[in-house]
Amino acid sequence: MNKKLINLILGCTLLVLLSCQQGTKQDKTSPSPTASKELVDSAQFNEDIDGKAARLFILKNAQGATAYLTNFGARLVGLVVPNKDGAMTDVVLGFSKASLYNVPEEPYFGPIVGPFANRIANGKFSIDGEQYTTPTNNGKNTLHGGFKGLHFANWEAKQTDEKSVVFSHTLPDRYEGFPGNIKIEVTYSLSDHDELTIAYHATTDKKTVINLTNHAYFNLNGEGSGSILNHQLTLFADQMTPVDSTLIPTGAIISVKGTPFDFTSAKSIGKDIEVANEQLTFGKGYDHNFVLNGTEVDGLNHAAKVVGDQSGIVMDIYTEEPGIQFYSGNFMAEKVTLKNGNKDSFRTGFCLEPQHFPDSPNQSNFPSTILNPGETYSTKSVYKFSVQ
Ligand code: BGC
Repeated sequence: MNKKLINLILGCTLLVLLSCQQGTKQDKTSPSPTASKELVDSAQFNEDIDGKAARLFILKNAQGATAYLTNFGARLVGLVVPNKDGAMTDVVLGFSKASLYNVPEEPYFGPIVGPFANRIANGKFSIDGEQYTTPTNNGKNTLHGGFKGLHFANWEAKQTDEKSVVFSHTLPDRYEGFPGNIKIEVTYSLSDHDELTIAYHATTDKKTVINLTNHAYFNLNGEGSGSILNHQLTLFADQMTPVDSTLIPTGAIISVKGTPFDFTSAKSIGKDIEVANEQLTFGKGYDHNFVLNGTEVDGLNHAAKVVGDQSGIVMDIYTEEPGIQFYSGNFMAEKVTLKNGNKDSFRTGFCLEPQHFPDSPNQSNFPSTILNPGETYSTKSVYKFSVQ
């Protein structure tokens, strides 16, 4: 063989080797199309957070609706349901990776919040004459259980089938100031009728207060589809609890009639949001608790109905809770990047949080949030999806 030919053969071999190596590199960073079929990549949720494993759990029903959850914060990461044309649409905002949730500025995307969801005035409340102090992480008030509420807990998880997953976590006595060793269990299940049910149970060994909810941000047109202001909202609530400038209820319960808070028949979220109104000024939009009428459907209160104006996706919420916090995403400020690459722009998601009323531990005329030893806290909320 002459020298030229040998060099040619050697050169080609080198080229082939190099391109193979590049191929391997690519395979490692971008999964093959078949492996990335799921909207959320399990591998991105296979992380240790604070020394404990975070994982992704996937629920699927016969129609192909899918819920993505992680035990880090017992969070709903994504929820895929069909739109009016049958196209699968993710209606819950979230992140693409578990550790992205583990930052203080995380806006409570999809977690279970507690042990006391919403606000406690001045971070103080008393039970039987004993005063408890909780962290003031929202101005002078406590919000969603304090700095290290349940949204940052790495829960135990048990998934026995494709339809449900059980998360459990125990808060030690005086954790973030709350009394009692509080054992909490939250079960997410997805039915073949496109209903996501969240069932909550808790016990304590010392008299305490409890108020658990899920804090998902919904956009029924999907992430990146713009603001939620054209979503049509109905709230089955003739009354609401007005707040002071720090969003603590004044204790009054007032009629929504003739106010921007009247969603008793379908109205777009944006219709009255800019109306001059002290309550809207305090909330920078809607950030208020509505008192549910108790419109019973199958033993639960019909709380809300929302329709995505572009997708035709309808979400009905049913609950055992007496109230629902409606938050129109007023603090969303493009601080984080969502799972499909869009920013969390102003009012591109809304929360509807079935719960007891804010600051109930300090408001004797609100339904009680006390949990006694020997009792079991038990409540559930159902999010039912359909199209119109
Ligand atoms: C509260 C808002 C708060 C938001 C945090 C809602 O439940 O009502 O005031 O900003 O949670 O993302």
